[in-house]
Amino acid sequence: MADDNTAFTVKLAQSGQSIEVPAGGTILFSLLEAGIEVPFSCGHGICGTCETEVVEGRPDHRDFILTDEEKAENKTIMICCSRSRTDELVLDI
Ligand code: FES
Repeated sequence: MADDNTAFTVKLAQSGQSIEVPAGGTILFSLLEAGIEVPFSCGHGICGTCETEVVEGRPDHRDFILTDEEKAENKTIMICCSRSRTDELVLDI
């Protein structure tokens, strides 16, 4: 079980790459740091630009865009601010 203080792994379904997200870090920053270009704008979970499809795993939603119902479905994640409740999160990137 991952939380703020726990690192987790993001696996990219399209390339097969695995990216470590450190405790307290964001998925977005870890991807950018690894040279993976993904769209983003606000960085705070309010614009929806970084919305990404979830293939596997359970996100820890921290955004202000998805409804409670959408968050429960775990189909997409705002990668600028949300984290993972599972040790590994597979995203459609
Ligand atoms: S960049 Fe705006 S919600 Fe993620």
